[in-house]
Amino acid sequence: MDWGMKNRLAQLIQPDGRCFFMPIDHGYFQGPTHCLEQPGDTVRPLLPYCDALFVTRGVLRACIDAVGAKPVILRVSGGTSMAGNDLAHEAVTTSISEIVRLNAAAVGLSVFVGSYYEHETLMNLAHLVNECEDYGIPVMAVTAVGREMEKRDARYLGLACRIAAELGARVVKTYWCPDFDKVVGGCPVPVVMAGGPKCETELEVFEFVYDGLQRGAIGINLGRNVWQSPQPVAMARALQAVIHEQATPKQALELFQASTKA
Ligand code: 5RP
Repeated sequence: MDWGMKNRLAQLIQPDGRCFFMPIDHGYFQGPTHCLEQPGDTVRPLLPYCDALFVTRGVLRACIDAVGAKPVILRVSGGTSMAGNDLAHEAVTTSISEIVRLNAAAVGLSVFVGSYYEHETLMNLAHLVNECEDYGIPVMAVTAVGREMEKRDARYLGLACRIAAELGARVVKTYWCPDFDKVVGGCPVPVVMAGGPKCETELEVFEFVYDGLQRGAIGINLGRNVWQSPQPVAMARALQAVIHEQATPKQALELFQASTKA
């Protein structure tokens, strides 16, 4: 692996082999998502606890201070909306020169395996890998399910992750599911878990993150369950402990509760 690629991956994946990415890219198809109306204000207090930010170029330029910033994973797919016909009909939105200009540590793009636009989104990934590898920039593939949340099982996610890795993704982001070791076991590159819609309780979040890590995930890219929490900073701190300090779900909950009282 060349120095640039190695260096960028090392900015994202910490020396303990783990990572906590903070996604604030939801507006690229959802518009002003609840609690992310002002993304800069939402994420500022959470930054000390995470290792990188997943964000579009528009929000990055408009809302994130370039000085002292966390490494950036640039969201580079889009072109659809909640109001449109098909969320899977994405294209690559951002040129390689823009990716380099913004000093991205990595880029992220969604693939929609099994959808009508499967081929287009997988070829988006393949072409993006071709371009980014020339510049030593890792591509993170996002195995998206659009509105079909019921697709989140080990068989489907394992298929999607493996295909993304085969096409050259350096990291794959997918949803946690029962039997998550089957997803990780069939994927030859590191797997990161997304959070999905907000869970009922904090413990539920700590439990699935912990389970995913035990089953081989290297970390999380988890947004709504942090910044839609009534206590986002306490949530970020507790998740940091699960990721980087081997906290169990019970210990994370205790930390969360202690932080909310502080
Ligand atoms: C949506 C994304 C998000 O980055 C991903 O879903 C993680 O966020 P959350 O934990 O809120 O699901 O790709 O565009």
